[in-house]
Amino acid sequence: MGSVPDLRGDYSQAGPDYSVEQQWEKYTPEEHQLYRRLFERQSKLVPRYACREWISAISHLDAAREIPVFEAISKKLRTATGWEIVAVPGLIPDEAFFTHLANRRFPVTVWLRKPQEFDYIVEPDVFHDFFGHVPLLFDPVYADHLHEYGKGGLKAMRLDAVKFLARLYWFTIEFGLMNTPAGVRAYGAGLMSSGGELAYSVEDPRPKRLPFELERIMRTEYLIDRYQDSYFVIDAFEHLMRETAPDFAPLYTRLKSKK
Ligand code: PHE
Ligand code: FE
Repeated sequence: MGSVPDLRGDYSQAGPDYSVEQQWEKYTPEEHQLYRRLFERQSKLVPRYACREWISAISHLDAAREIPVFEAISKKLRTATGWEIVAVPGLIPDEAFFTHLANRRFPVTVWLRKPQEFDYIVEPDVFHDFFGHVPLLFDPVYADHLHEYGKGGLKAMRLDAVKFLARLYWFTIEFGLMNTPAGVRAYGAGLMSSGGELAYSVEDPRPKRLPFELERIMRTEYLIDRYQDSYFVIDAFEHLMRETAPDFAPLYTRLKSKK
C-alpha cells in the first residue's frame, strides 16, 4: 500500500487498476525451485505456529511444487468464498488496492525475490503475497472481513484517515496473532511468510502480546524494517469482524484531534 519510491516491479504494462498478466511461462526453473525452497521451509513451521484456519486452508491450494498459476487458484477461490487473485507488478496505490479488496480481488505481486533475499525482503513478492495472504481467503469469515476492510479503505480515503486504517491492516492482516486452545498462534501474512518472525511472534519472551484494541492499534506506529515490539491478539476472526464493524468516522475524528 502507499506510494513508495523506487519500486522494483515493471509497471509499464499495468492497466488502470494496476493489474497485469501473470505470464507464468516466463518464470525460470530456478525461480520455481527457490519458491519451492521457501514453501518447504515455511511449511515446517506451520504446524507449530499457524492458526488452524490457515492450516486447513493451505490444503486447498496444491501450491507446494512451483509458483502457482493464479487463474487456477482463483477458480477454487471463486467457488469457496467468491474471491479471486489479480496479478500486479508490486505495491500499488491505496485507491487501486482498496478497490480490488472491495470487489473481492486480492492483488498478488508477480515477481519472486532473488536467492540472496531468501531470509529477508523489503517489498512484498509473490511468495509473501501468495503464501501469506491467499490461504485465508478460503476462510469465509476472514474473507468477508477483508472485503469490509477494502470498503472501509475507500471510506478512510474520503475521510483522510488512511494512516489509521493502515495500522489496523498492519497489526491484523500482516502481523496478527490469535488465541487458540493450544495457545497463541499466527494468522498475519507477514508472519506466515517470514522464516524468523513467525516463531518469534508466537514464543519469544521479548515482544508484547496485547489483546486486540482498535483505538490502541490505530495509535500505534509500526516498524517496517525489523521484528515488531508489539503484537495484537484476536480471539477469532468473528471477534475481529465484530470489533471492526462499527462506523470508524467518529474514531478517526478523535484520533486526529489528539494528533
Ligand atoms: N467499520 C469500518 C468503517 O466504518 C470499516 C471497516 C470494516 C474497516 C472492517 C476495517 C475492517 O470505516
Ligand atoms: Fe502483505
